[in-house]
Amino acid sequence: MSATSANILRGILPRDIAACERRADIEHPSLFLQELALVRNAVASRRREFATTRWCAHRVLDELGEVRCPLLSDDRGAPTWPAGIVGSLTHCTGFRAAAAARSTTWRAIGIDAETDGPLPDGVLRLVANPTEMQELRRLTRYDSSVHWDHIMFSCKEAIYKAWYSMAGTWLDFVDVEVSLSACGSFAANLTDPMSGYDIDVPAGFSGRWSVGHGVIATATAVPHNADARQSTLSPAPRPGWRPS
Ligand SMILES: CC(C)(COP(=O)(O)OP(=O)(O)OC[C@H]1O[C@@H](n2cnc3c(N)ncnc32)[C@H](O)[C@@H]1OP(=O)(O)O)[C@@H](O)C(=O)NCCC(=O)NCCS
Repeated sequence: MSATSANILRGILPRDIAACERRADIEHPSLFLQELALVRNAVASRRREFATTRWCAHRVLDELGEVRCPLLSDDRGAPTWPAGIVGSLTHCTGFRAAAAARSTTWRAIGIDAETDGPLPDGVLRLVANPTEMQELRRLTRYDSSVHWDHIMFSCKEAIYKAWYSMAGTWLDFVDVEVSLSACGSFAANLTDPMSGYDIDVPAGFSGRWSVGHGVIATATAVPHNADARQSTLSPAPRPGWRPS
C-alpha cells in the first residue's frame, strides 16, 4: 500500500496511539542531559538521528499528557519509557519516528522504518523461511514494483521491538512467520508455539505496512485482549487473500 500523505506512520497505527515523525533533523533539539550522555561519544550522524528521534518521543509524551522525562536505553538498547507508557522508536535515512500509548490501552507497540529498496544480497535467506519465500514470489508476481522482501524484514523488526518490550528476550527472524497482504496489513505467528509460553506473550501479531516518499514503515500493536487483535488494526486483512 503506498502512502499518499507525508505522515506515513499515522496511517498505519491505531488512532489511540500517539505518533510523531520527522523527515529532517531538528536543529539543536533540547534533550535531557542524561539522554545526551548516551551519544556523547557517537559520530555526528548518530547524534543527530538520536536527538531528533528523542525529540519525537517527547512530542508523543506531550500528546499523551505525560510530563517529559529522559528516555534512556536499557542494556539491549530498548528505550525506557516512563511507567504507564508503552512505545517504540525508529530511524532510517531521512526518517525518524516515535509512537506510544498508555499501557492501560495497549500492551506493546513496535514500529520500524527502512529505506525503500531491495534487501541487501544475502539477507533474505536469513530472514525468510521457505513458506515466506514462496509468499514473496507470489507477491512479486502480483506487483514487482514493491520491495516485498524489505517489507517483510521491517515487519519482523517491528515485531521484535514489541516482543522485546513484553518478554525482554531475543527473538530470531526464523522464530516468526509473517504473512503480508497487498492491502497494507500483515499477520505473524511464532513458529514454535512454545516460544514465550512461560512469559505470557501472544503467539500471534498483526499490523500494517506502508511505503511512501522513499520509506518503508511498519507497525504492530499488541492489545491486552489478544482476541481483539485482528479488529483493532483497521482495515483488517482480507480473509483468505492471496495474490494469484
Ligand atoms: C533492535 C533492532 C530491531 C533495531 O532495528 P533497526 O532497524 O536496526 O533500527 P531502528 O532505527 O528501526 O530502531 C532503532 C531503535 O530501536 C530501539 N530498540 C533497540 N533495541 C531494542 C529492543 N531490544 N527492543 C525494542 N526497541 C529497541 C531503540 O530505540 C533504537 O533507537 P535508539 O538507539 O536511537 O534509541 C535491530 O537492530 C535488531 O537487533 N534486530 C534483530 C532482532 C530481530 O529483529 N528479530 C526479528 C524477530 S521476528
